[in-house]
Amino acid sequence: MSFKVVEPAPARLNRSELSVPGSSVKLFEKAAKSEADVIFLDLEDAVAPDDKPQARKNIIQAINEIDWGAKTLSVRINGLDTHFMYRDVIEVLEAAGDRLDLIMIPKVGTAADVYAVDMLVTQIERAKGRRKRIGFELIIETALGMQNIAEIAAASPRNESLHFGVADYAASTKAKTTNIGGPNPLYGVLTDKLDAAARRDFFWGDMWHYAISRLVVTARANGLRAVDGPFGDFKDPDGYNAQANRAAALGCEGKWAIHPSQLALGNAVFSPTEAEVTQARRIIAAMRDAEASGQGAAALDGKLIDYASIRQAEVIVGMAEQIAARAG
Ligand code: GLV
Ligand code: MG
Repeated sequence: MSFKVVEPAPARLNRSELSVPGSSVKLFEKAAKSEADVIFLDLEDAVAPDDKPQARKNIIQAINEIDWGAKTLSVRINGLDTHFMYRDVIEVLEAAGDRLDLIMIPKVGTAADVYAVDMLVTQIERAKGRRKRIGFELIIETALGMQNIAEIAAASPRNESLHFGVADYAASTKAKTTNIGGPNPLYGVLTDKLDAAARRDFFWGDMWHYAISRLVVTARANGLRAVDGPFGDFKDPDGYNAQANRAAALGCEGKWAIHPSQLALGNAVFSPTEAEVTQARRIIAAMRDAEASGQGAAALDGKLIDYASIRQAEVIVGMAEQIAARAG
């Protein structure tokens, strides 16, 4: 380990994160009763410009009056390039009670963007005597944000998570797609001729691999959660699962849900299975035995395990304990 200690953000389950438009009041109660780990009430892209003042009012009332249970509650404000953002922060934080946990900042481009919102939030918290410190969720969804991601991730002690906003990222990088998330038939490799019949195979690749990998590494290097963004085709659960699984394999601990039907999928993908937890506990136990007999490595089921295996296994057991604590 480095001499530098990376402090983790406050522990929260973030397997599924439901987006709810601030203008759609009829969806609020249902969202509150859903199985989402995190809900963000949206003031940004799901709300038309003329509806934003009313959406702020709806959100304030909902934060203060609805029973959100044990869920983490967030509000997505508008970007710093709009004239909506300052009122989003001031109106919501001045009038909403301490039930609010997080603010989600979209299209973060530089560390100074985070600094600016931090300054505003800090002043309001002090002036209003807010007791709970608001944390930040940051959406990385522009070329500028991806270029500056390391400075952004370190820009405020309020930072809790980095989110991959795949739709805006595609727009910002001018990627040739109009899908929200998901694979792209243009992105793949064609094999050389495989046999005498000159058969060739085309394998689809994951055009988001670099962006998500970079986001995961940067998040973890700063003690933050890494969360994969939206998958637009809510009638395709298999497609959602495939995208969520590959994000989990890279180190994300959750994914957005743009429709309630995606919540159960996200919760399942980002929860370790019983078999995985049992295996992780076996690894830890086997290594403790090895250690007691003076060994730094051991064989389990015919495979080498060592101290790195303990750290891998502890990630799985830690997640299982967090889920059990929520359920209990
Ligand atoms: C989310 O905000 C996205 O742009 O994908
Ligand atoms: Mg976006």
